[in-house]
Amino acid sequence: MNSTETFLQILTEYLDKFTNLAAKYDGTIQYSKELETTIDGYSAFITDERNHSAWEQLERQASNEFIRLAAEARSVSARCVAIMEKYRALKLLDGNAGLTDYFKNIESCIESEFGSFHVTSDSKVFMVGSGSFPMTPLLIAKRTGAEVIGIDIDDEAVELGRRVVERLGGGLRIRLVNSSIDHLDLKNVSHIIFSSTVPNKYDMLEQLHPLTEERVVVAMRYGDRLKSLFNYPMKETDGQTWGLVETVLRPGHVFDVALYKKVSVASGQRRRFT
Ligand SMILES: C[S@@+](CC[C@H](N)C(=O)[O-])C[C@H]1O[C@@H](n2cnc3c(N)ncnc32)[C@H](O)[C@@H]1O
Repeated sequence: MNSTETFLQILTEYLDKFTNLAAKYDGTIQYSKELETTIDGYSAFITDERNHSAWEQLERQASNEFIRLAAEARSVSARCVAIMEKYRALKLLDGNAGLTDYFKNIESCIESEFGSFHVTSDSKVFMVGSGSFPMTPLLIAKRTGAEVIGIDIDDEAVELGRRVVERLGGGLRIRLVNSSIDHLDLKNVSHIIFSSTVPNKYDMLEQLHPLTEERVVVAMRYGDRLKSLFNYPMKETDGQTWGLVETVLRPGHVFDVALYKKVSVASGQRRRFT
């Protein structure tokens, strides 16, 4: 692809399809195939290197129409990913599970998510946006034996998520709740993961600062530039609270990961990443 016009046309078509499919969700799996195909196509679109130059040109031009289209595409595709997790959960609970490209893409990330800050059986992991099919909590708890707490603002996602955990992860230490951060005891949390499709994730990160201990490490999933059509992008943090330690760039994957640690004040001097 080389023309910005074609790029905008494809993006508009995806936006229409997503808007339509999001409105059709009715608690059954009737439209799951259509949504899976659309999301897999969109994942390929935002990870295709050939689309970079059109994206960069449009970003430079920064027309109001492009900015609006990109924001809408991000928001509705995030809603559709959450719906696709519902479909996946409903299929599993109905005895009919499959794995789409999008899920393979996320699952392949989990291994490297915390870089050198490994999760062990003594870790306590907190995930924001655990979803209806909590594959991150499940894989972490299964592979490491760590305790995992997941929150989600959607009651249906929490309910489906619990049933999926019961089915796939009986005996694992996973707790899913719909709760605001300040109602949870997060003092012993060692690792935090933010789902990349949580719109206010950077506000929540700041909120977490006083509620967590010094050694905590945060994996913030995000997508910049072309990937921001499917993810909320990285933001500058308040220099007094969180410091960026590492970014794990994952070409060909739907999102990247930024690792943060607390900036702490020691002996009157500001020290980073203790
Ligand atoms: C794509 S899904 C979850 C990721 C996936 N299940 C995993 O394990 O990697 C994103 C979820 O974030 C939830 N979400 C969005 N905003 C949120 C917020 N402010 N707080 C908690 N959850 C949120 C949505 O309801 C949705 O279920």
